[in-house]
Amino acid sequence: MAGITDADFLNKVIPLGFDVATLGGYSLDSPTINASKMIIERGRKEFDFPLDEIFTHIENEANFIKSVHSAVKVSANVRATTPQPIIDAGNIESLDIVEINCHCRQKEIVDIGCGQEMLHREDLGDFISQIVDNVDSEVSVKIRANVEGVDTVEIATLIEDAGADYLHVDAMKKGVFEADWKLLSEICGNVNLKVIGNNSVNSKENLQKMIGTGVDGFSIARGVISGNLDFNIVNF
Ligand SMILES: Cc1cc2nc3c(=O)[nH]c(=O)nc-3n(C[C@H](O)[C@H](O)[C@H](O)COP(=O)(O)O)c2cc1C
Repeated sequence: MAGITDADFLNKVIPLGFDVATLGGYSLDSPTINASKMIIERGRKEFDFPLDEIFTHIENEANFIKSVHSAVKVSANVRATTPQPIIDAGNIESLDIVEINCHCRQKEIVDIGCGQEMLHREDLGDFISQIVDNVDSEVSVKIRANVEGVDTVEIATLIEDAGADYLHVDAMKKGVFEADWKLLSEICGNVNLKVIGNNSVNSKENLQKMIGTGVDGFSIARGVISGNLDFNIVNF
């Protein structure tokens, strides 16, 4: 969660049972950094690091998490208009996973072709495979489901074909206050890469529904924002 999930925050919540911790989202080039600044100006939280500091910052944050929780995998959710800055992030030694943000729906990010707008790019497969082919880390692609004009299952297959290791799906469905469980099941039935389900894991009941879709893992954002969880994610 932009402006929230830094190493301090993640170090506090990892003991709740998480085996992957995701830093960010971070903006990695001038267009996305400028977009982040505009978002901050209208009062929304964002991480705000200049181009000459952001990569060192991510490295230091990942190292800090590893120094406290050596077994956890550290991921960074990142946005950029071209693959190269994401490749540079993926080659940060202390980072296990670089996550390409094809999810953000903030207008300033969408207007420059990033975030969920990436799902409309004709060269999305090539964008992802350039990153996969040139990084030492694993690659995750975080998508928003049910984006207008996008077939989520087709996109999932494209991301698999591009060589990503993880497909992280915010299974949001407009007008519904739970994840689109049916769509997640359909995705899991159509791809072989690891699917990480996301959205509305905020109770034991929803966690069981999420597991029932066949996902390989799940992620929690708003449910952990207070620093605590009132349900068990280890022995549920
Ligand atoms: C304040 C806030 C900031 C967020 N920032 C990001 C972000 O930078 N990158 C991203 O991929 N998702 C971001 N998200 C989305 C969450 O990671 C997650 O996909 C979404 O909240 C649905 O999952 P949940 O029901 O567990 O919260 C953000 C969500 C919130 C509430």
